[in-house]
Amino acid sequence: MTEKKPARYASWTHGKLPLPELVEMKRRREKIVMVTAYDAPSGRLADAAGIDLILVGDSSGMVVHGRESTVPVSLEEIVFMTQWVTRGAKRPLVVADLPFGSYEVSDEQAVASAIRLVKEGGADAVKLERGGTSASRARAIVDAGIAAMGHVGLTPQTATVLGGFKAQGRSSMEARRLLEEARALEEAGCFAVVLEAVPAPVAARVTEVLAVPTIGIGAGAGCDGQVLVWHDMLGYYEGHAPRFVKRYADLGAVVVEALGRYADEVRAAEFPAEQHTYSIADEELALFEAAADASTLAG
Ligand code: KIV
Repeated sequence: MTEKKPARYASWTHGKLPLPELVEMKRRREKIVMVTAYDAPSGRLADAAGIDLILVGDSSGMVVHGRESTVPVSLEEIVFMTQWVTRGAKRPLVVADLPFGSYEVSDEQAVASAIRLVKEGGADAVKLERGGTSASRARAIVDAGIAAMGHVGLTPQTATVLGGFKAQGRSSMEARRLLEEARALEEAGCFAVVLEAVPAPVAARVTEVLAVPTIGIGAGAGCDGQVLVWHDMLGYYEGHAPRFVKRYADLGAVVVEALGRYADEVRAAEFPAEQHTYSIADEELALFEAAADASTLAG
């Protein structure tokens, strides 16, 4: 959708934002802006707002589809949503989440799932959660020619084993493990690493150590970029938003107010008005009414 440089882009290139530009942005200390999106209009609006990266996140399972967690989200769902988002977003790089169960079994499974997201979904890159075996999966994906983003700290797909949706890296041992995981993902070839729900000083140190950008969510201002979930930041979600979310709009209230007015106007027969209807030539209407009278009499 974007043709001219919108004032908001920190880094401008024509067409799709080139992947190597991200590390250059880190070098220039320009912040990278990422948001989730799940359909064509949100992809188009994110592009129009000058967003650099769009995440087709499995957070969709909760904020769009009303589930309790991201765990049940299927690869097919992410493939479909990525197709929709990439129809709307032209310049931002579109990163598609590998959902739980689509990459844990083996490197081969991870590569096959990543290929589907790129080939069928049109994703520019994929994201996978956790350190440990995920570093091996990330390496296999990168070796297959697909850009991969890591995600450590609070990893919602495995929140149960982390003790729930809570901050990670709050002891020196946990923080060291987090740093090691992030480094392993960088060494595996990830072009960036998401740090979720991590103390700000820990995230800032990880950001200094890594050559690739860190994208924070609940990880403080020291990260190279930030990501927020569309529904959380725009107030379009009834559920409980984490404390690290800042609300930039209250779309839920706007929608309820608009729907309420619509309902009132329909009930009061104020909608539709003349300008919302189609006309018919007088002679055609007369012919139609004569025919309708005849068929009513006959019937
Ligand atoms: O699925 C998602 O939206 C995410 C973000 C919270 C980073 O993984």
